[in-house]
Amino acid sequence: MAFVLDEVVPWGRNFEEYVAMFALAPADLERRILGCADGPASFNAEMHGRGHRVVSLDPLYDASPDELAARIDTTFDKVMTQAHRNRDTFVWQNIRSIEHLGEIRRAAMQTFLADFPEGLHAGRYVPAALPELPFPDRSFDLILCSHYLFLYSEQLSADEHLTDLEEMCRVAGEVRIYPLQALSGVPSPHVEPVVAALGARGHRAEIMPVDYQFRRDSRTMLRILSGAR
Ligand SMILES: C[S@@+](CC[C@H](N)C(=O)[O-])C[C@H]1O[C@@H](n2cnc3c(N)ncnc32)[C@H](O)[C@@H]1O
Repeated sequence: MAFVLDEVVPWGRNFEEYVAMFALAPADLERRILGCADGPASFNAEMHGRGHRVVSLDPLYDASPDELAARIDTTFDKVMTQAHRNRDTFVWQNIRSIEHLGEIRRAAMQTFLADFPEGLHAGRYVPAALPELPFPDRSFDLILCSHYLFLYSEQLSADEHLTDLEEMCRVAGEVRIYPLQALSGVPSPHVEPVVAALGARGHRAEIMPVDYQFRRDSRTMLRILSGAR
């Protein structure tokens, strides 16, 4: 049975996963990073704890900490049930089992929740939504977008992907997207037309291997170098 969620759910990954998914080198961590659709991931909190600054953007940050905790709780059981049903579609290596998956996702989201009030106050969590990013041109060096674009290929058309990516290219010199698989597990049908359209608009988009795999055969990211404006 395919992995089916009727909406884009709040679900959070951790620092090590972001580093691996986006092939982040130590020098990348020093750059001005915007995490688009960061939701309850702990990347921002953990980067902050390491002395780096990340700004995360997500419409979810409109909610109060209590509301967020409640939504995460509701999502948790739903996603874990789906993961259990679809356990053959994952590679159980770094994440060893369904129980281990539950532990590391809970830990990441708890770390996010603990950091959220202070981070919101400090402007590290920005409640906003694509396709409009409330930032000036080139105000970031690098945008990371994990488990939103291409994953939700049924919910978002190729044109919507292109609009979102153009907006990201306005705001940052480089954009990295992971994964390139849709939620059903098949390669996103939008990747090829979107890469071609970005090239035609003066951006350089390439598919690159990464040293991360949890969903089977999901070992590539899209890296876009924004064209001159
Ligand atoms: C599956 S979560 C991924 C969270 C995080 N990036 C990670 O990989 O752990 C997807 C996130 O996309 C966010 N989202 C939904 N619509 C969005 C939009 N229009 N712009 C930005 N983020 C959006 C959701 O609120 C949710 O937090």
